[in-house]
Amino acid sequence: METKILQNTDREIAYAAELLRQGEAVGMPTETVYGLGCDAGNPDAVKKVFAAKGRPADNPLIVHIADLADWAPLVQEIPPLAKKLAERFWPGPLTIILPRTDAVPAITAGGLDTVGIRFPAHPVAQALIRAAGVPVAAPSGNRSGSPSPTNAAHMFADMDGRIPAILDGGSCICGVESTVIQLDDAESVRVLRPGFVTPEQLQTVAAHVTVDPAVLAKVTEGTVVRSPGMKYRHYAPKAKVTLVQGDQPHFLAYMKQHTGSGVYALCFDADVPLCEAAGICCMPYGDTDEARAAAFFSSLRELDALGASHVYVRAPRTDGVGLAVYNRLIRAAGYDIVRAG
Ligand code: TXA
Ligand code: MG
Repeated sequence: METKILQNTDREIAYAAELLRQGEAVGMPTETVYGLGCDAGNPDAVKKVFAAKGRPADNPLIVHIADLADWAPLVQEIPPLAKKLAERFWPGPLTIILPRTDAVPAITAGGLDTVGIRFPAHPVAQALIRAAGVPVAAPSGNRSGSPSPTNAAHMFADMDGRIPAILDGGSCICGVESTVIQLDDAESVRVLRPGFVTPEQLQTVAAHVTVDPAVLAKVTEGTVVRSPGMKYRHYAPKAKVTLVQGDQPHFLAYMKQHTGSGVYALCFDADVPLCEAAGICCMPYGDTDEARAAAFFSSLRELDALGASHVYVRAPRTDGVGLAVYNRLIRAAGYDIVRAG
């Protein structure tokens, strides 16, 4: 199958929407990462998404809407806290998990009785969903286990020949997937996957915000988790990745002891001159948590293209958006985390 790259024009969006209505899987931009979309209510279309990604059948898909009125038919009820969160953070990078109705087939929900709903902020995503006229189920557009795609070229690299089309909406602004939450009770939110909507921001709407322990911990096989995605290997580039905790002097001292052929430091912008002076091959991934979120998935792909064999990543903070970056990096590193100093 030839995979076409479609441009952000009314005509090509209408064509992508037609493919969705016909039960095809189509690559689509969102503000977080690219997704592999399909008609959420069509089990055959959903099967194509699982097959193209190589995704385990028990890992549910997020259902995307483009109008606030469109989530009521998909969930059993909308509790007042969920309504407040939606009004504050939608459209945007927040996925809210609630008990589903039969409008969401079991296969879409990975066999669970709940569904995650998200109203993306990206104008091209909204235009596509509206033109399709159906809720759109979409996991991230990478092959299962690879870094998430943050532009159409990344998605093409993973999906060429597997899907009919990818709608190009430019590079993703956020660069990390949405914050996934569930409601523990009428006033409490639990973060199952951190993202651009931070626990601190959720706290402005919910009385209690808990970050699920699995977000920062290693989940071993066989553990019962609240979100199936927590237990799978994720975001792994070809290179071995090690996360290095510590301040700049300690990071540099550690890197000086670990240089070698194919070894790279994925570092903060301010580390670059010092790395270069010390003869350490390096790639900067930003000087703020937001910049690092936007850059690190594409940096991992770039380092693979350079033939890196081992990438040492300077660990970001674990508050604000840094928590989302840290959560992805410990998984990319297969939990290989060292403390320098
Ligand atoms: O930003 C995003 O969320 C992107 C874009 C395309 O919207 N989508 C995305 O989907 O990241 P995916 O499938 O790669 O990750 C969804 C995560 C998985 O870890 C999955 O296990 C979890 O959300 N999830 C989805 N529905 C769930 C549910 N009903 N209960 C628990 N976890 C759920
Ligand atoms: Mg994913």
